[in-house]
Amino acid sequence: MDSKARSLVSRWRAATMAACLAISLMAGRSTAIADDAPPAQSPAERGYDWLTTRTYLPADFDQAVFDNLWKVWPAELRAQARNATPDERRRMAFSRYGLIERPGGDGGKPALGYVADGKSGWVMNCLACHTGKVAGKVILGAPNTHFALDTLTEEVRLTKLTMAKPLTHMDLGSLKMPLGTTRGTTNAVMFGVALGSLRDLNLDVRFDRPKPTMVHHDMDAPPFWNTRRKKFLYADGFVAKSPRPLLQFVMLPENSGATMRGWESDYSDILAWIESLEAPRYPWPIDRELARQGEVTFNRSCALCHGTYGDHASFPDRVVPLDEVGTDPIRLQSLSVAYRQEMQKSWYGHYGERSYRTDPGGYVAPPLNGIWASAPYLHNGSVPTLWHLFHPGERPVIWRRTENGFDQSKIGLEVTAFDELPPTARSNSEKREYFDTRRPGKSAAGHLFPSKLADDEKRDVLEYLKTL
Ligand code: HEC
Ligand code: HEC
Repeated sequence: MDSKARSLVSRWRAATMAACLAISLMAGRSTAIADDAPPAQSPAERGYDWLTTRTYLPADFDQAVFDNLWKVWPAELRAQARNATPDERRRMAFSRYGLIERPGGDGGKPALGYVADGKSGWVMNCLACHTGKVAGKVILGAPNTHFALDTLTEEVRLTKLTMAKPLTHMDLGSLKMPLGTTRGTTNAVMFGVALGSLRDLNLDVRFDRPKPTMVHHDMDAPPFWNTRRKKFLYADGFVAKSPRPLLQFVMLPENSGATMRGWESDYSDILAWIESLEAPRYPWPIDRELARQGEVTFNRSCALCHGTYGDHASFPDRVVPLDEVGTDPIRLQSLSVAYRQEMQKSWYGHYGERSYRTDPGGYVAPPLNGIWASAPYLHNGSVPTLWHLFHPGERPVIWRRTENGFDQSKIGLEVTAFDELPPTARSNSEKREYFDTRRPGKSAAGHLFPSKLADDEKRDVLEYLKTL
C-alpha cells in the first residue's frame, strides 16, 4: 500500500468517513492486506476490511453482465439508457436496484454491497442489505431500504441467458424461492433456513437431511448501530450474540464446514466493526423544549420496553408477547422451537453452551437510537414513518416510497399512499415497488402503545425520538 493510503488508514481511527475512503483505495487488493496492513489495526478496522475486500461466496455476475442489464429494462427506461453515457447508465442501474456507490469510489468497482473477485465478478457481501442511503446520504450500517434484490437477480438471469453465460447460485435459488417481494425487504431469514438444512451440527455439508418447512416472508434489516446494545440477535431475540451466527449468510454448500469454521476470527472482527458503529445524528433542527417534555412522556410510557437513553442508558432486551405487541406474526412463526433448539445445539450456538430463547413467543422491543434513520418501521418494514407508527388508524394500506425523499414532518420515508395497487403495476418488478400491507407477512397492524398518548404528547415524543 502506498504512503497516501497508509496515512488515510490511520486517520480512519478518528472518523468513519475516512475509513470508507481508505478502504475504497484498498478495494480489490485483498491479497496484499496481510503484508501491508498497518500493524495497529483494531479488530473493527479489520472487520470493515474483510467485509469490503474478502470474497466469502462465489460471484453473482460479472461486470459485462452488469453493464448489459439495461438492455432488459422496461422499454421507456431502456430508451433512456440507450442514449445515456456509461456513467449515467451506471447511476440508473444503481438507482433501479438500490445499489450504493463505494464512498470515494471512482465508479469503476462493484457497488459497496459487493466485492470484486479479481476476475471481474461481483460477490455479494453483508453491506448489500446492511448499508443504505437515508435522505440520499450513505450511512454505514443503515438498512438498505432501497435494495431490489429480486429484480436485480431476475434481470441478471435474463441478461446471462441472452449473453449465453452460465447461471449461478442466486439465479437458480431465486427460481425456487422469493428473494424479496417488496423493494427494501428480503426473505433473508428463509435463505438461512434453506441453506442450513444442508448442514449437520458441525456445519459439515450433508445432502441427506430432511427438507425444511419454508414460510417465506420479507424482513427489513435492523440497523447495525444498535447491535452493540443487544445481548441477543434478530427480531425475536432468539440467538445469543456471537460472531458465529453471522456466518449464516455465507452457508452456500460450496463453503465446506471446515472453511466456515475457519472464518470465525474474520467474523469476530466483522462483529467488532458492527459494534463500533454509532447511531447517526438527526441532521435537521430539533425543538429542544418539546423534546425535553417528550423525554418525560417516553420514560413513563415507552422506556419499560425500549430502555433509556443518555447518560445512564439501559436496555432491557425485552421480548414482548405476540398478543401484547400485535404485530405481524409470520416472522415469529416461521421458525419452529425445534429449529431454534437445533441451531443452539450446533456450532452456531457453541454446541449448546450459549443460552438461546428457543421459544421467544414475541418480538424484542429494539433500542431506538438513530430511529429517525431506520424507516420504515416494525420488523417487516410495514410502517413508513414514525408519525404513522403513532397514528395506527392512518397507516397506509399500500405505499410507494421515493428514492431519496425524507419526510421531515412525519419522520421517515417520503411516500405516496394507495388503497389499491394502481393498474400500471403489472410486471413483478413494478409490483415490488409497492408495499402492500394486505399480503402475508406484511401487516402493519399492532404496536398500539402510542395510541394511549394525547396528541400533544405524541408530538413531544416524536421530537424526543429525533434526539436519540
Ligand atoms: C439479503 C439481505 C441480507 C444480507 C446479505 C445479510 N443480512 Fe444480516 N440481516 C438481514 C435481515 C433481514 C436481518 C433481520 C433478521 C431477523 O431479525 O430475523 C438481518 C439481521 C442481522 C443481524 C442481527 C442484528 C441485530 O441487531 O439483531 C446481524 C448481526 C447481521 N444481520 C449480520 C450480517 C452479516 C455479518 C452479514 C454478511 C455475512 C449479513 N448480515 C448479510 C438481511 C441480510
Ligand atoms: C410493551 C412493550 C412496548 C411498549 C410499552 C412500547 N413499545 Fe415500541 N416496540 C415494542 C416492540 C416489541 C416492538 C417491535 C415490534 C415489531 O417489530 O414487530 C416495538 C417497536 C417500536 C418501534 C419501531 C422500531 C423499529 O426499529 O422499527 C418504535 C419507533 C417504537 N416501538 C416506539 C415506541 C414508543 C415511542 C413507545 C411509547 C409511546 C413504545 N414504543 C412503547 C414494544 C413496546
